[in-house]
Amino acid sequence: MDDRTAMNIKAPQVVDSSAYRGGTKLKARFPTIPHLRRHARRHIPHFAFEYCDGGAGTDAGIAHNWTALDAVELVPRYGVMPDLPPLGVELFGRKYAAPLGIPPMGGPALVWPGADTFMAKAAQQARVPYTLGTVGGLTIEEAATIAPDVLWFQLYRLARNDHALGFDLVRRADAAAVHVLVLTIDVPVRTTRPREVVVGLAGGRFSPDLRMIFDMLSAPGWLMALQKYGHPQFANLTSYAGPNANINDVISFARSEIGGGFTWEEIARFRDRWKRPLVLKGIMHPLDAERAVSLGVDGIWVSNHGGRQIEALPASIDVLPAIAAQVGSRATILMDSGVRSGTDVVRALALGAQAAFAGKAFLWGLGALGADGPRHVIELLIDETRASLGQIGASSPAEANATTIRHPGALAFGQTLSP
Ligand SMILES: Cc1cc2nc3c(=O)[nH]c(=O)nc-3n(C[C@H](O)[C@H](O)[C@H](O)COP(=O)(O)O)c2cc1C
Repeated sequence: MDDRTAMNIKAPQVVDSSAYRGGTKLKARFPTIPHLRRHARRHIPHFAFEYCDGGAGTDAGIAHNWTALDAVELVPRYGVMPDLPPLGVELFGRKYAAPLGIPPMGGPALVWPGADTFMAKAAQQARVPYTLGTVGGLTIEEAATIAPDVLWFQLYRLARNDHALGFDLVRRADAAAVHVLVLTIDVPVRTTRPREVVVGLAGGRFSPDLRMIFDMLSAPGWLMALQKYGHPQFANLTSYAGPNANINDVISFARSEIGGGFTWEEIARFRDRWKRPLVLKGIMHPLDAERAVSLGVDGIWVSNHGGRQIEALPASIDVLPAIAAQVGSRATILMDSGVRSGTDVVRALALGAQAAFAGKAFLWGLGALGADGPRHVIELLIDETRASLGQIGASSPAEANATTIRHPGALAFGQTLSP
């Protein structure tokens, strides 16, 4: 019996409008994020699912993120709170509706054409952070029009010509009033994900072979969306790749420009240029967090890149408490990797994060529901976060931090470390 039969999920109806219809119906059919994953697997071309779902090596890092989160137990207190708690949080001086958001993701339009627009719209509507990636499918300027109140921008290292391109993107982000600049530091080397290799996506070109064409033909909803919204783009890089650059020119341009991990000296230069909140994404060690904060970085985003870079890392939830203990009084702590429910968000809050981000969850939502996916994922996460906070007796996201916790995987770095 396959997953779908076991879950009694009916054959997909193609949903493709930017209006979120039938939230209640969707909740009955897809009550959790794993339900969306199961459905996405059958609703989009195989190569697209492998792109969004696969991790480094054997996928062990992805599985580890999930089991580590599942292992965190929260001890409830009862008799304290008659109502469901409000979820509003302040991050970097701005109010957001809930302690959760969308992290940067390259190439989401491969999963569902138009994905970037749907995520940006849903985040703006719900007032939660939306992080546009360097290799996202919207330009910074387009994203700022769609999501003016919640837009963050993520930058990879583009070091050629003394960071000319990176600094220009930062200038554009500033002009577009982006709230937060996120520097991703956890991709010092380019790695390949075996599931992408097998389906022919790792070669640095998008040239569909017969098998991919067959995959596309077996996903009519996805094909219709492709016709309507066009193929994936690296929108922010197109204008630098030369006149008349086609998608493969832009991909090879991106591959030649993006590379290496930021050094601390480089981070200091970006700190100098960017006057609004600056976050480092991919921190896994308290001493790296300490170094970042000493350079004036405002936020530490604890992340193992969702298990996509190397499977041998600890789960981010397991290093989160040590990092929060090290710098939590001086920096905002964000977390991602493995979040599949509002209960996971509450686990992250309980262990010292101010907000948690879910990556693949949004791609599974897009894969299952197209345009309605991101909104449904946000609704699920918000409802579950509120219910879980209420269930453990926390009257606000911040109060989750006072919960008694059993955390068997917590990594001990010793006491608070000196740099
Ligand atoms: C398809 C895909 C593309 C990604 N692209 C980027 C990227 O361009 N920049 C970045 O900083 N992180 C990227 N990430 C990592 C996410 O920002 C995030 O750290 C990760 O997805 C969180 O783990 P989760 O997927 O288990 O929730 C990507 C993740 C996925 C799934």
